Amino acid sequence: MLLEVSGLNVRYGRTHAVKSVDLTLAEGEIVTVLGANGAGKTTLLKALQGAVAPTSGTIRFAGRDITAFQPADRVRAGMMLVPEGRQIFVSMTVEENLLMGAYLRRDGQVARDIDAIYQRFPNLGQRRGMKASVLSGGEQQMLAIGRAMLGRPRLIMLDEPSLGLSPLFVNHLFDLIREMNADGISILLVEQNTGMALETASRGYVLELGSVVMADTAEALAGNAALAEAYLGGHAPAATSSHQTL
Ligand SMILES: Nc1ncnc2c1ncn2[C@@H]1O[C@H](COP(=O)(O)OP(=O)(O)OP(=O)(O)O)[C@@H](O)[C@H]1O
Ligand SMILES: [Mg+2]
Repeated sequence: MLLEVSGLNVRYGRTHAVKSVDLTLAEGEIVTVLGANGAGKTTLLKALQGAVAPTSGTIRFAGRDITAFQPADRVRAGMMLVPEGRQIFVSMTVEENLLMGAYLRRDGQVARDIDAIYQRFPNLGQRRGMKASVLSGGEQQMLAIGRAMLGRPRLIMLDEPSLGLSPLFVNHLFDLIREMNADGISILLVEQNTGMALETASRGYVLELGSVVMADTAEALAGNAALAEAYLGGHAPAATSSHQTL
């Protein structure tokens, strides 16, 4: 397994945000984590990134126990997070934002990799010298993903990347996720766009109030009407467009 989470617990004071979570992701897999607002999805990713400390449990990545690793050491090990809300630096240029993703690299290929990002996202290339604040929401999401790709990760963790994007951009985004995966990057995808996430992933986990209440193949989860009713706000997965209803 590339990623193996065992018995993970995270507490914020009296809030038990992540409860005894077990999760695995094989090299090359796309795995999705679904759940309603407040289910603990972001907290789980923050624990994987090293931004919050678990109260118990272990995180293994690429054969090592990284539970006590600092965030930068997790990046070095090959994990990159695209955070909720993108969190790009709007007062910096597009290119400076991309360079932030490469800050730990000491190889001489960063410029070449930035060029590859501009090939893939011409809108970013055309605006490389402009402040990132000029970008549309969709372009900002692409920038956040491009920044993560510049870390040359083995695993990219995406926290609700489709949030606030137009349907057209959502399609681009999911195409991009599949392309990155085809290039050998494993993907842990947190989404409320259940339909698209289950079409893209091979397996999924459903979190409710911090606990994994379902773990199955994406196909089985997509066909499970009870899942939608009980945990995801009452829409059948294929019809879910929770972002409009939030
Ligand atoms: N820094 C914090 N301090 C205290 N409680 C927090 C903090 N961050 C999150 N929580 C609480 O932990 C629980 C899980 O929150 P989390 O943000 O992980 O959920 P989520 O599944 O990502 O939700 P959303 O879909 O709205 O992004 C919630 O009850 C939330 O209020
Ligand atoms: Mg969240």
